[in-house]
Amino acid sequence: MAKITYIEHDGTQHEVDVKPGMTVMEGARDNGIPGIDADCGGACACSTCHVYVDPAWLDKLPAKDPMEEDMLDFAYEPDPARSRLTCQIKVTDELDGLVVQMPERQI
Ligand code: FES
Repeated sequence: MAKITYIEHDGTQHEVDVKPGMTVMEGARDNGIPGIDADCGGACACSTCHVYVDPAWLDKLPAKDPMEEDMLDFAYEPDPARSRLTCQIKVTDELDGLVVQMPERQI
């Protein structure tokens, strides 16, 4: 299990255990965490699963593929350095402790 902390825009924190193999988006959805809408269900086609990754974790995540990069252009106030789509991040044991923050709104 990997412990992931999801922080809402207002600072409310949710710390949950997510099974490796799931995505960071699925971890939020299955735990009822607000702020990640995931309208397309994880197909990298909506950008409503956008988060800002804690700077300490940026280097530990796999690189964005071109499709994620393109979809992030449609996200609400993307930050080129910290924005990721959570449906494109697979949880692994190495991501134990990951911290992500949701934007003010999704699109
Ligand atoms: Fe739609 Fe991630 S859930 S892009």
